[in-house]
Amino acid sequence: MIMNKKNFYLICLVIIGAIAIATMPLWLPSRSTALHSHLANSTATTDTHIKPIAHKVESFDFSIDKTSLTQNQLDQHKKLYEGYVAKWNEIEQKLASIDTTDANNITYSIFRSLKLAETFAKNGSLLHELYFENLKQGTTMGPKTQDMLIKNYGSIDNFKKDLIACARSCRGWAITFYAIDTKRLHNFILEAHNETVPLLSIPIIVIDVYEHAYMIDYGIDRAKYLHELWGSINWDVVEKRIIDWVLAKDLAKQEKLVSK
Ligand SMILES: [Fe+2]
Repeated sequence: MIMNKKNFYLICLVIIGAIAIATMPLWLPSRSTALHSHLANSTATTDTHIKPIAHKVESFDFSIDKTSLTQNQLDQHKKLYEGYVAKWNEIEQKLASIDTTDANNITYSIFRSLKLAETFAKNGSLLHELYFENLKQGTTMGPKTQDMLIKNYGSIDNFKKDLIACARSCRGWAITFYAIDTKRLHNFILEAHNETVPLLSIPIIVIDVYEHAYMIDYGIDRAKYLHELWGSINWDVVEKRIIDWVLAKDLAKQEKLVSK
């Protein structure tokens, strides 16, 4: 039988089609292979994480005459602070190379545990730095601090009573914040380094009320610790924080408005 041209092309097309279907698994990636590849590219690479930086232990003047606390109490406290900084660095290093493919569960994953510990270590480091920095005997309250406290609390005495009440009521930190939303100084309590932290708030006076902050010197007498501590607040540092972190910001805003 003589094959005409039309039939010849038709047979060629059928053969090519059959070959293509038969070899499809070899050239078309499977659905699961493609999905796996997508997940691998989107979650498991290390370059999705922020690069860690080395957080340093700050040095403070822990001499005995600077605060109402003894050298031993301050030295022990300093060791705890150094531990927070070390853990902060360790956590950031681990997060920098972690595989996040298991980070899909709110009960437990290594990633979740590290992220929870990250704020605990970071805040634990920074809160101690702020606390140690605002300790020093023999300073007097500056004019900007007085103005703001009287404006917001009615009197210095009212403010002191509220701050001490906060410190006697909480497990972690009593802190006078400048609240950006209300534009006021406001005392808050933190149950832990990373719990009940108010948003949009700048720490101005930081008081550590964990037992380790006073147990060596005062036993469980927290009231005595706080009474003595009021006389050891470094009002020069508090004044500087108000000028640099509160008033300077307002000044910059005003200058911006004037230049418009
Ligand atoms: Fe502490």
